[in-house]
Amino acid sequence: MNRTLVTCALPYANGPVHIGHLAGVYVPADIYVRYLRMRGRDVLYVCGSDEHGVPITIKAREQGCTPQDIVDRYHKMIKDSFTGLGINFDIYGRTSSPVHAEGASEFFRKLYDEGKFVTRESEQYYDPEAHTFLADRYIVGTCPRCGNENAYGDQCEKCGSTLSPEELINPRSKLSGAAPVKKKTTHWYLPLQDYEKWISEWILEGHKEWRTNVYGQVKSWLDGGLQPRAVTRDLDWGVPVPVEGAEGKVLYVWFDAPIGYISNTRELLPQSWEKWWKSPDTRLIHFIGKDNIVFHCIVFPSMLKAYGDGYVLPDNVPANEFLNLEGDKISTSRGWAVWAHEYLEDFPGKEDVMRYTLTANAPQTADNDFSWKDFQARNNSELVAIFGNFVNRAVVLTHKYFDGKVPVCGSLEEADKEVLAEIPALRDSMEKNLEGFRFREALRDAMGMARAGNKYISDTEPWKVAKTDMARTGTILNICLQLCADLAIAFEPFTPFAAERLRKMLGVTLFAGSDHRVGEAVTVNTYKAGEGRALHTVSGEVPAPAPGEIRLDWEILGRPQILPAGHAIGEAELLFAKIEDEAIDAQLRKLDAARERIEAARKAEEARRVAPLKDECTFEDFEKMDIRTATVLEAERVPKTDKLLKLSIDTGVDRRVIVSGIAEFYSPEDMVGKQICILANLKPRVIRGIDSRGMILMARQQDGTMRFVTPAEVLNNGSQIG
Ligand code: MF3
Ligand code: ZN
Repeated sequence: MNRTLVTCALPYANGPVHIGHLAGVYVPADIYVRYLRMRGRDVLYVCGSDEHGVPITIKAREQGCTPQDIVDRYHKMIKDSFTGLGINFDIYGRTSSPVHAEGASEFFRKLYDEGKFVTRESEQYYDPEAHTFLADRYIVGTCPRCGNENAYGDQCEKCGSTLSPEELINPRSKLSGAAPVKKKTTHWYLPLQDYEKWISEWILEGHKEWRTNVYGQVKSWLDGGLQPRAVTRDLDWGVPVPVEGAEGKVLYVWFDAPIGYISNTRELLPQSWEKWWKSPDTRLIHFIGKDNIVFHCIVFPSMLKAYGDGYVLPDNVPANEFLNLEGDKISTSRGWAVWAHEYLEDFPGKEDVMRYTLTANAPQTADNDFSWKDFQARNNSELVAIFGNFVNRAVVLTHKYFDGKVPVCGSLEEADKEVLAEIPALRDSMEKNLEGFRFREALRDAMGMARAGNKYISDTEPWKVAKTDMARTGTILNICLQLCADLAIAFEPFTPFAAERLRKMLGVTLFAGSDHRVGEAVTVNTYKAGEGRALHTVSGEVPAPAPGEIRLDWEILGRPQILPAGHAIGEAELLFAKIEDEAIDAQLRKLDAARERIEAARKAEEARRVAPLKDECTFEDFEKMDIRTATVLEAERVPKTDKLLKLSIDTGVDRRVIVSGIAEFYSPEDMVGKQICILANLKPRVIRGIDSRGMILMARQQDGTMRFVTPAEVLNNGSQIG
């Protein structure tokens, strides 16, 4: 039997999940899993929190708590967000669990025992006061590119440059503030270059069908040549390296996290996990964002290959690009995001709208943008005006004219045949798109069905026909209700809450795996009636339908007469509600506030920024400059300019005029009588028709304001400075 193991990138438990995560990984994965389950395929859906890594330790330090406190908080928050959005993993585990520590240690140990690692000694930065090695993130200093004083040892968040700690000016430890020193340390490395040829054959030759962004990234990594990768770190948060002489070392987070997929499966299925991970019948699909490609296509597969033992490799890695928010890059650290937990609070009952919008704008082939206006439009003019409106008319009219019973379908007219013919065609297309991970297109197909239904009911106008021809009205509404049943299937992967409401209105249930015979003992996924959620049952028996129960499943989508004449439908219920401007404005105000915070932080940062040092000059260069004290005798604005003052000064040597661009900062009255410093031998220039001889020395502050430089006590004019 064909099994599909679906994994979603384990989110770091150092912040909440946002719409970028959802659009990139979790919503598409959930669509895929729901689809497969409806087809009765055997699916295991695995995720969990990624709870190791340096950023978590930094966050803990900043907040004065332990890393465990941080991951406990965010693990719960993330887990609840997923549940709230109808993303129900079979297991949502965590890499701080004992099962994982054991699994990851065992994994390392086997590779270690079999000599699959190489060791290397290197010099790493060390904090001599805190007595600990420093991860690159723990070293801060001034960015050599932009002067940001708080650049990290691996990256400047201000100008985006990738850095190494060596490049930082005035590096200091985040722990103690001490200047880091270099110290020797030994680490274990996985020699990726040994797997290069094998990966090339497996992916470049064997998986040309993968998305071009994924395939292209793999190719460019391979073209660049692979290097040994360190799999351990000097750190005190993580899975301890399980060999002697490795005190103070833990597994590198990117080594342990993907093993988390396996650990979480073991946690759920201690007896049968191997059937998912080590059987050639398993198709493994990794849902990830584009920043994870190298780890899932090169590093983790190489780890599994090194381990041997028949571990499966991914059959596909449908990585997405990034989602932007209102035109700007989403950033957890800057606070530019729409957080899942806040969305669920602000829009209760509208889980589907976010799922829908993120799918319609899925960043599948290129980065894409989320905007609140688009979100509102998708809801109001698509979900409400098309899907919801159609269903509402069909159900309300059935109650009005046929007492809530599915009317008999009489002979079909051309318009009837046309709309009915559209469904199987859209279904085929949808199937191909879902199987090919093109969820945006699949959603378009599903919406196409709703559009077709809405157009059909508008064109045939059963409310008018009812005045003269009840039989024809019955036929039209029968067809509309069949289309509603199709929609209750087609939208299950995308908007599961609405699909469930729709099934309730139609008086039907959803059942996965119609191919299984009743009573047959099978591994099957069932949906608990009334919950609309897939509940994975590892093995069970297909229950007999209750009397009169109508079970929907994928296979009957588009078949004629899903709902038999006479079947009683339920009460009309709103499928989707309009979203008013106020709700959107509130979100936009929230983003404005975030923008202001970001801008204030940027300004504060800028105010601390010191211009980088200029190129070296010689003493001779300096000596050429004749810098002297002088006193301003008269000052006036240069007419028709905002910036210029004309100053008459006594240089001790002569009396002369200097035109200076300081009017923004000083009025003429401010200047008269002040002692200043000038560059006296600057080549004269004519400025606005005035002969300006020399330059006033000014200090430019980080915020751009300028102040003149004055001696600490009044000196004789003409004193030479140098
Ligand atoms: N935590 C990582 C991220 O958010 C993803 C880890 S995926 C796993 O980028 F494979 F390592 F688990
Ligand atoms: Zn920088």
